[in-house]
Amino acid sequence: MTTTLDMAIVPSGAALGAEVRGIDLSTPLDSAAFSRIEEAFNRHSVLCFRDQNLNEEQFLAFMARFDKVEKVPISDFAHPDYPDIFFVSNIRDGERSIGHDDAGAVWHTDMSYSERPPLISALHAREVPFENGIAKGDTHFASTAAAYDSLSDADKRRIDGLFALHDLGGRRANRKKDPSKRTDISPELELRRKKQPNVPHPVVRIHPVTGRKCLYVTKGECVGIDNMEEEEALSLIDRLARHIYRPPYRHTHKWRVGDLLMWDNCAVQHIATFDYKWPEHRRLMWRITVGAAPTH
Ligand code: OGA
Ligand code: MN
Repeated sequence: MTTTLDMAIVPSGAALGAEVRGIDLSTPLDSAAFSRIEEAFNRHSVLCFRDQNLNEEQFLAFMARFDKVEKVPISDFAHPDYPDIFFVSNIRDGERSIGHDDAGAVWHTDMSYSERPPLISALHAREVPFENGIAKGDTHFASTAAAYDSLSDADKRRIDGLFALHDLGGRRANRKKDPSKRTDISPELELRRKKQPNVPHPVVRIHPVTGRKCLYVTKGECVGIDNMEEEEALSLIDRLARHIYRPPYRHTHKWRVGDLLMWDNCAVQHIATFDYKWPEHRRLMWRITVGAAPTH
């Protein structure tokens, strides 16, 4: 049994991110230890547990302590035996990719194109590409809460009460300008998009647990702002998005096999680094999302 006495929370020193040490998540966690993890998560927004070796059931059980486990966004990339685990991977089985191989090519927050985006996402690293002893495929995070806090009062007033329109096809539309970056979304997502073209979310999202104000706009998904001319809306989205990704609000995760990394989809945004290539490099992450809820 892990108790709070065994654990240490080591903050990254940046506006977000901490490592939890002295814990083996495959063994029982008492409720005080779990509360301490939840508290650290709400404070630091990105938590890393190194050297874990969880099986699927242990990973699912740990995440289910935070909130209800959500369905995967693309069923083709679900774990064949555990449909709530999503494969994020560049590994190919013949022509077919076994997982989502394009997750996080732009700054984003997971599934903001849905009405009830998951509050928490977690990746458990099974295979990590290395070259000359250095890990490839870092994931970068930026604090949307620190970004909001540092806006000018005039900007805070300007965006108060605005709703941005998040579109599942937004990334594709934005990439049209650069055809080399264009990718198609899966038929399953395309169908969902037809049923629900875009979803309004508050530009300033109040964090459901901490009450902090967070900027909730991404250039990838946001295609407009309610009751605002398109040109003005896109330039505002662009300006806010750039503000979020600035270095002082950033933290980079360097992966090792066995990492369990979890992040808060309201308080941070993230982006992947595609500096590895099949078949020289293999990367496999199991992903679980929990806590789908309305944003306002
Ligand atoms: C994700 C994601 C980034 C990465 O799984 O939601 O954006 O580095 N992943 O794999
Ligand atoms: Mn993501």
